[in-house]
Amino acid sequence: RSAAGKPGAPIIFAHRGASGTRPENTMAAFRRAVELGATGIETDVQLSADGEPVLIHDETLSRTAGASGWVGDKTYAELRSLDAGSWYHPEFMGEPIPHLTELLQLGKDTGIVLNIELKNTIRAYSGLEEKVVRAVREYGLESRTILSSFNHYSLALCKKLAPEIRTGVLYMEGLYRPWDYAKTLGADALHAYDPAVTAERVREALEAGGVDYHPFTVNDEARLNALIEMGTAGIITDHPDRALRLLMQRRM
Ligand code: G3P
Ligand code: MG
Repeated sequence: RSAAGKPGAPIIFAHRGASGTRPENTMAAFRRAVELGATGIETDVQLSADGEPVLIHDETLSRTAGASGWVGDKTYAELRSLDAGSWYHPEFMGEPIPHLTELLQLGKDTGIVLNIELKNTIRAYSGLEEKVVRAVREYGLESRTILSSFNHYSLALCKKLAPEIRTGVLYMEGLYRPWDYAKTLGADALHAYDPAVTAERVREALEAGGVDYHPFTVNDEARLNALIEMGTAGIITDHPDRALRLLMQRRM
């Protein structure tokens, strides 16, 4: 049992896949997360101009896909022809921007928990919630998926469309009693920017009705240990192997 009294080890979410050692949001990063033993994968989903759900963090292509312009202005075929690996290291040249269904298939094959972040704050993607929910249901992954977003209207819509799928409220800091707010959204977890997380808040959230904390993005060993000690239900990290090693050490 963890310090906060929540049974079980936290879910270790590989942030954008194992992005500490692979190009973020590529199948190489997702597969590496599985190899390292991560129990969850976080990713970011947007829509192509022709409405296909694709996994990429930025709304524009310049940083990770070697092209100019917006993700949402390109067709799926155009996005698919881009190279999302070379920016990270030449070894990953030609890694494509994945389609959501490729990750869902990996989730189905491995049993890993999927934390799918709907990236619809800077750009509004009409129909994104419906498409993601439909795909998760098609793969039968409702019980092993968490839908998260900084756009909380989007989260409320997800909950309305699919009450059976968990949702996580992404926020930076400064929310007072965020577990109360989560409940007004029907949300199950708080995906809090790490500095907004304290032992007292984790405890209060659990006492107030089982709202889980999944802090992001935590790579520092001392802080990972502190969060494990607090009993957060999940931790989002670029280095899942680091978090898993600390968990193992605690068991010895
Ligand atoms: O889901 C946690 C984290 O991914 C949120 O921020 O910018 O990395 O998508 P960002
Ligand atoms: Mg994200």
